[in-house]
Amino acid sequence: MDRAGLIERTKAFVKGSLEGAEGGHDWSHTQRVHRTALLLLEGERADALVVELAALMHDLADSKFHNGDEALGGRLAEGFLRDQGVGAATTAQVVELIGTMSFRHGLGEGPGTEPSMELKILQDADRLDAMGAVGIARAFSYGGFKNRALHDPNVPPDPNMDKQAYKSSTAPTINHFYEKLLLLKDQMHTPTAKRLAAQRHAFMLEFLDRFLKEWEGKE
Ligand code: ADP
Ligand code: NI
Repeated sequence: MDRAGLIERTKAFVKGSLEGAEGGHDWSHTQRVHRTALLLLEGERADALVVELAALMHDLADSKFHNGDEALGGRLAEGFLRDQGVGAATTAQVVELIGTMSFRHGLGEGPGTEPSMELKILQDADRLDAMGAVGIARAFSYGGFKNRALHDPNVPPDPNMDKQAYKSSTAPTINHFYEKLLLLKDQMHTPTAKRLAAQRHAFMLEFLDRFLKEWEGKE
């Protein structure tokens, strides 16, 4: 199989599909997740082709923007990989990974079986992109898209939301840090991701500290 060609054609397919996607969740997010996945792959034993394909196609069709259809992305990926002549086993692995890797999917799940290394790398890469400077930018981009307030001291964060409450939340964007972004550091699997997450977490805390001081009119 022409592996490099397949990766290039996958990039073109995803880039075309994400044309006009909302700013926090677009082709550039996919590119960053792909690059971070490549970095994490350096430190781990995993099926690199499966990881790369799933990283590129993991946000093909976000259910938030498709009437909650959580299987659409997997179906699109399956059709594309079949057209490309990718083997059934690889295709099935990629489709399975796309379905299971999202944070929302993990909400409300009890302790399950140990995830595969491929899933660990993908979850780490996707979650890292919600942290740090880029994560802050994405959160406010998403909040703007949803017309949410930056901050409202009268609406306290609820870090224990269930899946349904999380999906339908209209809370200010600052709350999202306490409800999700500050929890991500402790969800990393690989040593490299843990190291990167610690740096990005510290930067978010520094940002929040300064934001809340400025909000109060303090120095
Ligand atoms: P992904 O599909 O990449 O796993 P999500 O769809 O959950 O992630 O979120 C995409 C981006 O939008 C992330 O950066 C996330 O922090 C941000 N986001 C999601 N929900 C909210 C929210 N309620 N307020 C602010 N940002 C949000
Ligand atoms: Ni993503």
